[in-house]
This record gives sequence, structure tokens and C-alpha cells, in this order.
Amino acid sequence: MNTVQAKPVVAEVAVPASNPAVAGPELEVAGTTGALPKAMTVTGFTGAFSGKTIIEDISLELAEGSITAIVGPSGCGKSTFLRSLNRMNDRIPGWKCNGSVRFYDQDVYGQGVDLLSLRRRVGMVFQRPNPFPMSIEENVACGIKAHRLVPRSEVRRRVQDRLEEVGLWKAVHDRLHDSPFRLSGGQQQLLCLARSLAVSPDVLLLDEPTSSLDPISTEAVEQLLKELVPDITIVIVTHNLAQARRVADRVAFFMDGRLVETGTVQQIFEDPRRIETGQYVSGRIG
Ligand SMILES: Nc1ncnc2c1ncn2[C@@H]1O[C@H](COP(=O)(O)OP(=O)(O)OP(=O)(O)O)[C@@H](O)[C@H]1O
Ligand SMILES: [Mg+2]
Repeated sequence: MNTVQAKPVVAEVAVPASNPAVAGPELEVAGTTGALPKAMTVTGFTGAFSGKTIIEDISLELAEGSITAIVGPSGCGKSTFLRSLNRMNDRIPGWKCNGSVRFYDQDVYGQGVDLLSLRRRVGMVFQRPNPFPMSIEENVACGIKAHRLVPRSEVRRRVQDRLEEVGLWKAVHDRLHDSPFRLSGGQQQLLCLARSLAVSPDVLLLDEPTSSLDPISTEAVEQLLKELVPDITIVIVTHNLAQARRVADRVAFFMDGRLVETGTVQQIFEDPRRIETGQYVSGRIG
């Protein structure tokens, strides 16, 4: 079994200009995150479904304890990229990839990686909520039990804490043994968030986590994300540019399967280096 080391610093990588054909090689893409430790480092990552390239030559660093927002038009590969970070595409027939993804000093695609352990440390909330076919309580408890994170007597308490944290406790405290499939779409999404948080991940990958939530629940989740850092490193895919501005430290703009540009929120929204980034954040494309 390939075990994961405790948070060592990995070498910083230079992020290449991702699409010189679009903006010209003279433009620098600010892809590095300075001297901060990197929770994840992606280098030259390309992925294809059944021979069709979906994401190409992506290089991106996730500084430990930061929030990175991934934005870009529908179908540009955001979810595919996110699922690549903890090998969730592996289960999709026809998926092939190359390049490197590192989680601290671990090669995510290396031989012998224990996927269960990887996915505990690099957790994910999918774009479409996917509660497990078990009770609401068990959805949150199962990971805690499987990884033996707390003594059995404390599992219930931890389930409640996580449900409170995501703002779902009030709605479900008297129906913990019910099926999660009777919850609304937004509630199912919150349940999946609680389930991911329950196993104390180091990195949390969130694919449009608030897309079916009302404004108040959305604000609560955004507040929660801000409280989770710097203990957790977060990547959030969102179509809501205002949300990216509100919660993210850095923004990565994807288009046509490529990472066009990455930088701080201020840089991407106020001084983008690429023409397409400016067009996208100002609502002229996408
Ligand atoms: N399992 C699959 N098999 C084949 N093609 C796929 C599969 N999953 C996604 N794709 C294709 O990959 C491309 C990128 O899809 P992806 O879901 O990553 O986009 P996205 O940027 O997340 O879009 P959205 O913003 O609409 O969620 C799309 O053209 C999609 O049709
Ligand atoms: Mg998507």
C-alpha cells in the first residue's frame, strides 16, 4: 500500500502558458502560488474519454489551506478535471489520462495507490448529489465507521456536528433513519457535503455545491468554506462568478479543455492577462 506522508513541501512547478494559439506566447500566465506548501500539484495533465481529448495539458498548483475556484463555460472540462484529482474518472469506461497529479509527495496515479485512503484525504462532492442508498444518518456515519475515526460511542455526535455544520440538522434531526432520496436536491447536496466533511479530508473538491441551494443556504455554505480553510484545501467549481469572487483566493479559468489562466481573484477579475478570461468574467462569452 502506498501511504501518504504528512504534509511535506513539494517542489514548485512552473505553469506553462496553456494556449499560446489563443493569446500569444508573450503573455505570462500567473500559475504559480509562490512559496506556500502545495496540497496538490498537477503537471501536464491530459485526459480523454474513448479517444476524445477532454482536458489537455493542465498544470495547476493548489496551495495548502487555500480556496481555488474553477470557472469556465459548460462542457469545458471542469468536472472532468476535478474528478481527475482523486481518480474518480478511473471508473468510467474509456477514460485514459497522462501527466502528473501529486497530493503532497504522493503520485496520485502511481502504482499501488490505495484509492480508499486517497479519497478519504481528497474528498469530493459531485455536481449531481449522490447519497448512498442507506439512511440519512448512515450516509454521514459510514465513512467515520469505515475509517475508524472516532470510538463507536462518538459516531452519533460527529454525525450531528457535521449535519449542523452544513445547516441540515434542523431539517433532518427527526428523520435520521429515513431515506436520503426523500430530501430535496439542495438538501441531498448538503448531506453529501456533510458526508465528505465527516472523514476529515485534507482536500475537498466541490463541484457546483450550491447550484441547487437558496441564497441563505448558499451564504451559509460559503461561510462554512471560509471557516474550513486553512485546515482544508478547497477547490470549488462554480458558474457563479460572484461566488468565486466571494470565496476564492485563486481562480482558474478553463475553456475548451484547457486552463487558460490562473491567478488571484483580483487579477482574474480586474486585470486578466488573456483576452478570453476578460471576455468570460465580463459576461461576453460562456
Ligand atoms: N463519461 C463521459 N463519457 C464521454 N464524454 C464525457 C463523459 N463525461 C463528460 N464527457 C464530456 O467531456 C466534456 C467535459 O465535460 P465536463 O462535465 O467535464 O464539463 P463541465 O465543464 O463540468 O461542464 P458543466 O459546467 O456543464 O458542468 C463534455 O463534452 C462532456 O460531454
Ligand atoms: Mg460540470
